[in-house]
Amino acid sequence: MMKHEIAVIPGDGIGPEVIQEGVKVLKSAEDSVEGLNLDLEEFPYGADRYLENEELLPEEGLDKLSKKDAIYLGALGDPRVPTGVLEQEILLKLRFYFDQYINLRPIKLYPNVPCPLADKGPEDIDFYVVRENTEDFYVALGGRAKGKTKETLKISRSIYEAKFDLDIDVDGDELAYQIGLISRRGAERAIRFAFNLAEEKEKDRLTSVDKANVLSHSYGLWREVFEEVAEDYPEIETEFSFVDAITMWFVKSPEYYETVVTPNMFGDIITDLGATLQGGLGLAPGGNINPDGVSMFEPIHGSAPKYKGQNKANPVATILAGQMMLEQLGEKEAADKVEQAVVEVLAEGEVRTYDLGGDSTTSEVGDAVSEKVKEI
Ligand code: IPM
Ligand code: MN
Repeated sequence: MMKHEIAVIPGDGIGPEVIQEGVKVLKSAEDSVEGLNLDLEEFPYGADRYLENEELLPEEGLDKLSKKDAIYLGALGDPRVPTGVLEQEILLKLRFYFDQYINLRPIKLYPNVPCPLADKGPEDIDFYVVRENTEDFYVALGGRAKGKTKETLKISRSIYEAKFDLDIDVDGDELAYQIGLISRRGAERAIRFAFNLAEEKEKDRLTSVDKANVLSHSYGLWREVFEEVAEDYPEIETEFSFVDAITMWFVKSPEYYETVVTPNMFGDIITDLGATLQGGLGLAPGGNINPDGVSMFEPIHGSAPKYKGQNKANPVATILAGQMMLEQLGEKEAADKVEQAVVEVLAEGEVRTYDLGGDSTTSEVGDAVSEKVKEI
């Protein structure tokens, strides 16, 4: 086993509180797994730093982060900063800079966690969503035009360059546009990752989500690529689902789903629904993965500024993000211990935060999981 260098970005709102518990659990895993060596370094990016010196994510910070083996992130977003600045200039910038083209979001309901669906239990809710993470409407290509406007939109990504010359005449009206891009290579790498995951985890029905009946240019290409890649995996059952339909089916028959692959934007939306099925945002982790580069792990919830500093937020999503990070780093034994510890603490049901009907604090949950890790 080798040493893993990990950057920790606590971020904003409840980020620092939940990441503190995630780090506590990682240290406990380090103490109880022989040879596991985690070297953590904290980076202060977020609202405070931005308000202090207008710095978001400096070049020199990116250099340092690129030498790490993984990034462990709390949450970003703060009401003192205009909406979108921290999210786009830190979170999305990290995803794009490190070309983390997969956003892996396991949807798993653990025993003794309340589920909002009547008559559904842990045996019914256990699937993966693979969200493409660098394309679609997230490329931030767009603008506004009034009257006659000439615009050139440019984009430079690790896998393509694109330039659009627009000549707009809206005759006194105003127009806003946002362009969603899907590239063949971008779709292919995400779809292939999903097929491989379906194979590896033996979750061998792969559902591809799109809206190719309406947005037929971009999602038409997505579909075409899916069909081509599927030919390499004859043992995996495949199907297409429109995004509107899948929100209904997730609620009606979650047990049907095994692995789901989706373009970026739809993936964002359906995984909040998925998180609710698994007991709420307090339990849902995600991994922004570049299989050949620096990956970043975070809870999928936001910074919940309203709960900041109250030691109230559920740290389980962040702890499970730490577990995904250990798995990605090849530390299977430690990852399994962390998951088992979470499962046991949830099953016992004595230490749990308000969202699960308990009254424990964030740090009490972190302590309980850390203790369990040592006992397992
Ligand atoms: C998520 C979040 C982000 C996203 C925001 C904060 C930019 O909602 O990770 O799901 O849209 O991807
Ligand atoms: Mn989201």
